[in-house]
Amino acid sequence: MKTLVIVSHPTPQQSVAIKALQQVAEAQDKVTVRHLDQLYGTDSNAIDIAAEQQAHEAADRIIYLYPTHWFNTTPMLKAYLNQVWTYGWAFGPEGKALHGKELQIVTTAGATEFTYSPAGLIEATMDEVLSPMKASALYVGMKYRAPLAFYSAMGLDEASLDAMRSRFAANLQAPLGSQRAD
Ligand SMILES: Cc1cc2nc3c(=O)[nH]c(=O)nc-3n(C[C@H](O)[C@H](O)[C@H](O)COP(=O)(O)O)c2cc1C
Repeated sequence: MKTLVIVSHPTPQQSVAIKALQQVAEAQDKVTVRHLDQLYGTDSNAIDIAAEQQAHEAADRIIYLYPTHWFNTTPMLKAYLNQVWTYGWAFGPEGKALHGKELQIVTTAGATEFTYSPAGLIEATMDEVLSPMKASALYVGMKYRAPLAFYSAMGLDEASLDAMRSRFAANLQAPLGSQRAD
């Protein structure tokens, strides 16, 4: 099984949590890591669409790894979806490139897990916050896997970072199909 991890963080030099998780992915076998903001800066027009599509085609499982910012993806990841998941490639009569592949969202969030609950401040779970990603995955025929969310991911001490690293490494080593979201 080959895994593609697309990382996006608008200020990579200030990242602690996503950077730690990126390093975990880079240390795994059969995992390709591409950091959008490091490859293309903040210029979404610079995205090499053919190279990104080819990277997706070569993978069985695709992970999008990013910090939750205003309950959403990063600007570059949103632009990426707009530009890379094209008609005729990802959808439309001939667009079957992503069919059957797995998509998993791995995200860090500064707020607590309780915040992301019906009784919490936002009255919504992370699954609900991520519903546009689930809809997008299902629309292009992907298998949407249970997301992995790291809450309270700010000001982390080394022990908390280690726990995150272990959880993500175990997630990456889990066999295909073992994290069904349904
Ligand atoms: C502009 C901005 C918006 C943010 N919005 C949210 C948010 O909507 N929900 C949340 O839980 N945390 C939010 N946070 C906190 C980040 O999710 C948190 O700092 C990040 O996941 C930690 O990862 P990093 O060390 O790689 O930056 C926000 C942070 C910034 C800078």
